[in-house]
Amino acid sequence: GTTLGASAAEQGRYFGTAVAANKLSDSTYVGILNREFNMVTPENEMKWDATEPSQNQFSYSSSDRIVAHAQANGMRVRGHALAWHSQQPGWAQNMSGTALRNAMVNHITQVATHFKGKIYSWDVVNEAFDDGNGGRRDSNLQRTGNDWIEVAFRTARAADPGAKLCYNDYNTDNWTWAKTQGVYNMVKDFKARGVPIDCVGFQSHFNNGSPYPSNYRTTLQNFADLGVDVQITELDIEGSGSAQATTYGNVVKDCLAVARCNGITVWGIRDSDSWRASGTPLLFDGSGNKKAAYTSTLNAL
Ligand code: XIL
Repeated sequence: GTTLGASAAEQGRYFGTAVAANKLSDSTYVGILNREFNMVTPENEMKWDATEPSQNQFSYSSSDRIVAHAQANGMRVRGHALAWHSQQPGWAQNMSGTALRNAMVNHITQVATHFKGKIYSWDVVNEAFDDGNGGRRDSNLQRTGNDWIEVAFRTARAADPGAKLCYNDYNTDNWTWAKTQGVYNMVKDFKARGVPIDCVGFQSHFNNGSPYPSNYRTTLQNFADLGVDVQITELDIEGSGSAQATTYGNVVKDCLAVARCNGITVWGIRDSDSWRASGTPLLFDGSGNKKAAYTSTLNAL
């Protein structure tokens, strides 16, 4: 294939990007989006603060715009994210206990029902593990009880039985890290007990502090062996030039080597679209030109 999406499709995979609704009027941005990608993740528009700014008052204008753009252009959508400690509306940040648990369940039910039938996979729970010790991250959701994650998955399944349900996190790429093991053990337990989980997302924001690990393929394969799909969900790689290009190619090869690694999503299109305050972590430069990282990614597909 001559584009990321077409080449990935030849391998039975998708190639996606994070999309911001307010850039859908930028013709350079949309030109690359429509040409190269066949999956989109709303970068912020489906998060709790965006979809339920006041309790039980739902707001879908910008998320609906992204879904409509995707559907009109033959792309699928990864929903992101139903339950997360970050980017919560102020009213939820101030809640706890049963009230917060009920609010989370209502949020998941309402949002997953609104988008029912339009979402390929949902990041049901995002970033619920602690960076250091392999246990759960302390958060208002965690303090509602350790079962909040499985409740979130069961709630999402009931609302949209056709969507694949993912757990998504960062710093879970290196097989030897405690956080990776913590998430692995949760997924193993969920599969053993019949908690509805279909996939695990590896954000894969690689930088000097958490570099691309040589055992990445092992990690992906070990999770896949639990009976879930694995997806690379928010890929960006700090750096530039041939070193960055080589790492992008290696990430793609690792995914293709794992039968159940069924898709790769980069976290933005041009370097200037990146959430990173500085650096050049993406596949296109600020003018929309293909970088060496683009070529090595395409060649690896
Ligand atoms: C980021 C967005 O890219 C930014 O625009 C926003 O200000 C903060 O969130 N992990 C995730 C994503 O799961 O939702 C985050 O996205 C990046 C880290």
